[in-house]
Amino acid sequence: MERFYVTTPIYYVNDTPHIGHVYTTVAADILARFNRLVGKSVFFLTGTDEHGQKVQKAAQERGLSPKEHADIMVQNFRTLWKKMNISNDAFIRTTDKEHIEVVQEILQRLYDKGEIVKRPYKGWYCTPDERFWTEKELVDGRCPDCGRPVEEIEEDNYFFLMSKYQDALISHIERHPQYILPETRRNEVMGFLKSRPLGDLCISRPKKRLTWGITLPFDDEYVTYVWFDALLNYYSATKYLAPDRGEISWWPADHHIVGKDILTTHAVYWSTMLMALDMPLPKNIFAHGWWTVDGRKMSKSLGNVVDPFEVVENYGVDSFRYFLFREVTFGLDGDFSFNALVNRINSDLANDLGNLVSRCLAMARKYFDSVVPEPTLTEEEIKSLAESVVDRMKRHLETLSFQRALDEIWTLVGALNKYIDTKQPWSLAKSPEGSSELKSVIYTVLEGIRFLSIYIYPFMPESAVKILSALGMEDSINEPVLKETKWGGLRPGTKLKRMEALFPRITKEQKKEKEKSADKEETVSEDSYIRIDDFAKVDLRIGKVLEAERIKGSNKLLRLIVDIGEKRQIVAGIGKTYSPEELVGKLVVVVSNLKPAKLMGVESQGMLLAAGTDNEIAIISPEKDLPAGVRVR
Ligand code: MSP
Repeated sequence: MERFYVTTPIYYVNDTPHIGHVYTTVAADILARFNRLVGKSVFFLTGTDEHGQKVQKAAQERGLSPKEHADIMVQNFRTLWKKMNISNDAFIRTTDKEHIEVVQEILQRLYDKGEIVKRPYKGWYCTPDERFWTEKELVDGRCPDCGRPVEEIEEDNYFFLMSKYQDALISHIERHPQYILPETRRNEVMGFLKSRPLGDLCISRPKKRLTWGITLPFDDEYVTYVWFDALLNYYSATKYLAPDRGEISWWPADHHIVGKDILTTHAVYWSTMLMALDMPLPKNIFAHGWWTVDGRKMSKSLGNVVDPFEVVENYGVDSFRYFLFREVTFGLDGDFSFNALVNRINSDLANDLGNLVSRCLAMARKYFDSVVPEPTLTEEEIKSLAESVVDRMKRHLETLSFQRALDEIWTLVGALNKYIDTKQPWSLAKSPEGSSELKSVIYTVLEGIRFLSIYIYPFMPESAVKILSALGMEDSINEPVLKETKWGGLRPGTKLKRMEALFPRITKEQKKEKEKSADKEETVSEDSYIRIDDFAKVDLRIGKVLEAERIKGSNKLLRLIVDIGEKRQIVAGIGKTYSPEELVGKLVVVVSNLKPAKLMGVESQGMLLAAGTDNEIAIISPEKDLPAGVRVR
């Protein structure tokens, strides 16, 4: 059986998942689902990147071991992938024992082959950030990240001799035009490779600076550089996580899907690492673009990070998945806005697709008591269009042209809508002569929407299954159904089931409501009860106050830095009762998903829970010592 192996980047376990993570992962999911439908053996891998400075530091601040911290944080990703209907076959964590073994085995192999050597290393070190910079990277002689002074350090480190492979890599890219996509990105990589000599890659960090990493098997005073460890996940997973790994050899991958910011690490570091190992290179690395939000870069400080959980909650998982791949060509940058999302839902989903399905089912109910009629003829045009979409989808998905694949599906949506308008089943139903044609027309549209449901399945699995179950065929999607989907699969006599509207139109008022709830503006209801899911929208976290100071010009407001698994700046009106000094180190309860707001010009990214009056306030604090970031339920 043909095999198909697709990967996402492994995400930094420290991050809170956002639309960027969703984008890559859903892209991989669409490919995985489509390839399963056409009958291939699929391995779809995602996971988390758990070593390195940032994880070590965040864990330290929470008083946890790095692994304990990662164990908590990884849940965010696991929960989100469930919610997004991601069908990954495995979830790799770079702290898995088996992964660590593979990394060490490979480090040793490269060392034994002379591909890794020890050399003095000179660079500019920023002590607070704990990282090296090259002379060129410095800004006015200071750390480009934090602007603080740097010191020149010289120490021994291990280097992977990457420079050796510069020519081989150029020639590989030239001989395999599909290796790096889209073409503009390939050209950028080529431009970079041809314009300057490739350096060697420093792949070690002395343990005196960083302990949270994989120890070099040939020198236990060092750990390996986090990217060296991370990139190898694509290979190590084939050894201990891939399905049927006894029978199928999964390496090389068909697609590594990554964001444009991490293309160099994949196209250059990873490719040359594989060359040094005499291992085949992946068939394709695809670098997608970045999402902005309402025209602005997404950032925590701007408070415009799109929370995927919220989008799913308010607009539905399938609408979200559809939007991401219909709105923007995969490979280009795109802009997310709730307006654009609602427009897509109302036009493409509610109007075109949803309406078509509900019209067909309603007519079958009205004219044939919800039993699939026996057609008296085959509508060749619709039949051949329906059957041929799969080949065009296949071609587009081979180059990750999701938007075009959707266009193909929507030609069938359009053709069926037009067919109904032309045939006017309601007129046929009025005359006895029309009754035979009416059977064919209703059969044609029902069979047409069966095809549609299979085609949309990779993009919108939930809706696909809903349509198929209304057609009495919910089990068919589990088979390699696209391999043999022929016209006529829907059996006359099948009893149809009722179905709720797939994509209800979002009215202006509803849109406002949803935006309000996305903005987390509290509205006081006449009804004094709230439902449990209303309460669940409030994300309460245990926080630890790290810093506190008075805000100039106010005797009430304090500016706090609170660790809730990540650092937040919070402005709290408790300055009449509490002094900044007594707050530092205190455990508090924080509403973490409150829309950021400015108070006296200072941004507050959350709210503390407290009780009392302006003059006498008590902060709510957990009764036992708990790690920062723990959810309050
Ligand atoms: N751990 C590394 C990857 C190692 S792979 C061997 C890493 N992790 S990450 O969590 O930062 O990755 C985030 C992914 O999300 C990247 O592919 C990045 O391009 C993507 N995005 C982050 N912000 C994004 C947008 N605003 N829009 C689209 N994707 C973005 O890098």
